[in-house]
Amino acid sequence: VDQLVYLDYAAATPLDEEVFLAMQPYWQEKFFNPSSIYQSSVEVKNDLLQARQTIASLIGAHYQEIIFCAGGSEANNLALKGYLSNFEPSKNHVVVSYLEHDSVLKALNGFDYQLADLKSDGLIDIDHCLSLINDQTNLVVLMLANNEIGTIQPVKYLTDKIKQIRLERLKKKNFQPLIVFCDACQAGNYLDLHLSRLGVDMMSLNGSKIYGPKQTAALYIRHGLKIKPLIDGGGQEYGLRSGTENTAGFIGLAVALKKTQALKNSEIKRLKNLQNYFLKNLSNQLPEVILNGSFKNRLPNNLNLSFPGQDNERMLFYLGKHGIMASAGSACSASNHHASHVLSALGLNDHQIHSTIRITMGRQTTKDQLDKTIRVLVDYKKKL
Ligand SMILES: Cc1ncc(COP(=O)(O)O)c(C=O)c1O
Repeated sequence: VDQLVYLDYAAATPLDEEVFLAMQPYWQEKFFNPSSIYQSSVEVKNDLLQARQTIASLIGAHYQEIIFCAGGSEANNLALKGYLSNFEPSKNHVVVSYLEHDSVLKALNGFDYQLADLKSDGLIDIDHCLSLINDQTNLVVLMLANNEIGTIQPVKYLTDKIKQIRLERLKKKNFQPLIVFCDACQAGNYLDLHLSRLGVDMMSLNGSKIYGPKQTAALYIRHGLKIKPLIDGGGQEYGLRSGTENTAGFIGLAVALKKTQALKNSEIKRLKNLQNYFLKNLSNQLPEVILNGSFKNRLPNNLNLSFPGQDNERMLFYLGKHGIMASAGSACSASNHHASHVLSALGLNDHQIHSTIRITMGRQTTKDQLDKTIRVLVDYKKKL
């Protein structure tokens, strides 16, 4: 039987063995509710605190600024709706871009927002973004790394500019707050997440993309920001996310983030090599293939490729038949429900979008697997 080749790490990562082991005690021996008062519960509460501290220190936050949530979508919804619903509806103005995940764009429904353009390299058009900020803008949303095309955004550059805007506002006695939210769900494995080097006010991190458990996320909320909870109840997570804590999950999330950040530099080097190798060899045999988005400012594990004249669903089906798991630009664009808003903002038409597949590599990806993938892609074209 042919070896299976998994090339969809942006969709999900397998749970790391160390993470798996770290989570084990919390299903049975340490199942206690962290909010109870007896010693066993206090121990679990302390373990959870330690997980929070681990994440906080990895990103340069205080532990009380870390809110555990059930996944990236929830973290994004809490950050955006939780912040914006504190303002009179007429006092909200959000600047966001087409790069964002649906969990961000859809969370903004009903709020006043404007979309910044993308440049053809898949990076945000910073000048356009800045030009959209007006005296009432209270939130700018900029993801760190994109899930479809893997482009890395100049977050620090933008937050420095925003700092200047804040100072100018104060001089004009305009006290409307202006903050930055950053979706870093796809960035945890490969990018520097330190807040001092990003300058953002809120940031989401996702366990399921960093070899941690699904339905776990950490949302950083800068001390002092007012956020309304989406889920009310027992007041867990400093009142921002009620519900008995997913202790195993959050402890796993902390171990996963620590490990993946420790492996960051070696994985970047290894994957950059594989990324180069794959692109070069594929282009040698199929010169018509187009890479979408900047090659330089890109996650080392992502290749978003258009195959002119081909149909991505058929390609993915053919790859699947040969044990190769890849995806279309985003989960919904494979089944034609709606075309990728990211690729379309890049200027691709519907035909081009439906000729595009996303290959995302990870810790288990090898050169042999990529050779096989190239062979199958070349074969597919020959058979047409
Ligand atoms: C950039 C980005 N944000 C948010 C999410 C949502 O995460 P989840 O599906 O874990 O809720 C994802 C997951 O695909 C993502 O890639």
